[in-house]
Amino acid sequence: MIPKETIDRIFEASRVEEVIGDFVTLKRAGQNLKGLSPFVNEKTPSFVVSPAKQIWKDFSSAKGGNVVSFLMELENYTYPEALRYLARRYNIEIEEEQLDEEAQKAADEKESMYLVSEYAAKYFNETLLNSQRGKAIGLSYFKERGFREETIEKFRLGYCLDEWTAFTDTALAKGYNLEFLDSTGLSIVKDNGKKFDRFKGRVMFPIQSMSGRVLGFGGRTLLSDKKIAKYLNSPESLIYHKSNVLYGIYQAKSSIIKNDTCYLVEGYTDVISLHQTGIENVVASSGTALTPGQINLIKRFTPNITILYDGDSAGIKASFRGIDLILEQGMNVKVLTFPDGHDPDSFAKSVSTAELKTYLDDNASDFIQFKSDILLKDAENDPIKKAGLIREIVQSISKIDDRIKRQVYIQETSRLLNIQESILFDELAQIDNRELKKQNQQRNRQQSQPTQNPGLTIVPDDEPLPEMPGMPSGSFTPASTTVKKQLNIAEEQEKELMNLLLVYGDHEIEIIDEVEQEDEKGETELVKEVFKTTVLQEIVERLEEDGLSFSNEFFNNIFIEIVQGIENEEIRSSAYFIKHPDVQIATFLADVLSDKYELSTNWKRKDIFILSKEQRLVQTTEQTILRFKEKKITERIDKIAKNLASITEDMKRQEKMRELLKLNQLKILINTKLNRVL
Ligand code: CTP
Ligand code: MN
Repeated sequence: MIPKETIDRIFEASRVEEVIGDFVTLKRAGQNLKGLSPFVNEKTPSFVVSPAKQIWKDFSSAKGGNVVSFLMELENYTYPEALRYLARRYNIEIEEEQLDEEAQKAADEKESMYLVSEYAAKYFNETLLNSQRGKAIGLSYFKERGFREETIEKFRLGYCLDEWTAFTDTALAKGYNLEFLDSTGLSIVKDNGKKFDRFKGRVMFPIQSMSGRVLGFGGRTLLSDKKIAKYLNSPESLIYHKSNVLYGIYQAKSSIIKNDTCYLVEGYTDVISLHQTGIENVVASSGTALTPGQINLIKRFTPNITILYDGDSAGIKASFRGIDLILEQGMNVKVLTFPDGHDPDSFAKSVSTAELKTYLDDNASDFIQFKSDILLKDAENDPIKKAGLIREIVQSISKIDDRIKRQVYIQETSRLLNIQESILFDELAQIDNRELKKQNQQRNRQQSQPTQNPGLTIVPDDEPLPEMPGMPSGSFTPASTTVKKQLNIAEEQEKELMNLLLVYGDHEIEIIDEVEQEDEKGETELVKEVFKTTVLQEIVERLEEDGLSFSNEFFNNIFIEIVQGIENEEIRSSAYFIKHPDVQIATFLADVLSDKYELSTNWKRKDIFILSKEQRLVQTTEQTILRFKEKKITERIDKIAKNLASITEDMKRQEKMRELLKLNQLKILINTKLNRVL
């Protein structure tokens, strides 16, 4: 358990916009910040962060919450893990607890896999730096490759001893479960029960998520035997999905944002060498063909990608597919090759930081230039080949959605290849048509089959972005995606009051009350007096005077905390609950805050429009309390009426009748006040 005071300190230090800013590029939009949703693939930003309210809302996926729930959503963290992450981010110390039996059991499979992967990264790194053989073999290899100590540290490089079970045995002795050593692929378990280290004798490259969690490893052999695979990688697993991971993204993300561009290379060592030479906005697809998922990781930070290739022709041809894929994702792509047999790693080592930067700046060419350079070499004076080349290039242009960009690229192609623009546009139109037909066919096919992913909705690009709530004006909208499911219609009234408590609880209002006062003659008269209070105190007092509370358990728990707060002279409203350790509560609040929460306009009086916000708040408070009470009274009346028939004793029956009468009168009174027609 993390002590309560530490949790408070973590929440105090954490700024939702800073934490989310580590994952998503945010731009100012009025009071809020806006960016591309990290949860869905989208072109128009629908992800909103409110620094003032310390909440986020993703209008594409309807998710939202506070800083902790963001980390839980994005990184699959548990609550304590999210807190630990924030503690690291803000340099707050937490006493690290032991991995006891119970904690081990409680952590689900995924968590266990994360834990053992993190442990493995530490173990391999310590072996590299501290063990005799680690230093003699692994460390000297890295040194020979020119990797400096801080680089080894930064990428958490390691070494797995050249023994069969050195790692597996140590991990088991530490209490890590063989099941998870197996499922992460760190250990290989044979059918006959024999087990051994997958990465025996290799130097280790931990593969980290966006937030630095270890997901898997790449291990490089130190032997030059051609029969042995140079790199061995962790297998696909619950926590390691190759198609959604980019090597180096954790170390690169802030530099990608700063430079508004990302370099894409092939290998682990390319990433590391470029970093060491001062280029930090670089990631690797690590030997796999580039995927849309990987491109999307980059797209969160920048729309610009430059692919760095080591110039052999096989790699270049493969790059064409990557280029189209990047264009399809609506991003800008440039390509850059290195001179005579250099790859990014070797080139970075052969030049100074300044030279490298100049080279990268001067030699990046846009994809059309790149493609035509390569293909023209093949085509030379062969008209048929040249026609094919033109089609190739227009094919790439057709992947671009943006009309203006298309126009620019067509112009450039026309100039480069000396072809009339109109011919290129014709070709483009033909490709578009074919593509459209294909899409229609696919859609028809999909419609006749049950959809695989019914939860996925596609938001049109031009759909207006819902606003974050400013000040109220209108009627309540149903809040909360998570809690909604638990609400029945009868509880709507409770929710309305709860929303008011949470959103406006700490707002000060002036209440006019009638009090008895003695005049000079000693007679009592009713005098109107103005009281200053808060919405929250007013509601609590008015409910307590009738002994009312919430029937919905979730709401009632919140209400109890609010009442406890008043006893401690603390107004517990949005600022308090957004930091609540119960994530369900914090998430509910974030939903309420980000929904278009507006004050009621049920008033039939026209002058409502000329009332100030404060006056409207007073009226809404009054009205909501009355509606809540009316609902409770109605419930009570129904209950008594139902039971009346079964009461045989006269006295008791009469007593119940009297209560009914009283309640009915009260109901009429309230309804009159509410200005409703019965
Ligand atoms: N790769 C792999 N399996 C292999 C070979 C390569 O997974 N058998 C992946 C690795 O991610 C590697 C990338 O492809 O980093 C590029 O391969 P290569 O250029 O051969 O390796 P380098 O990164 O250049 O490694 P080194 O410089 O150590 O030779
Ligand atoms: Mn290399």
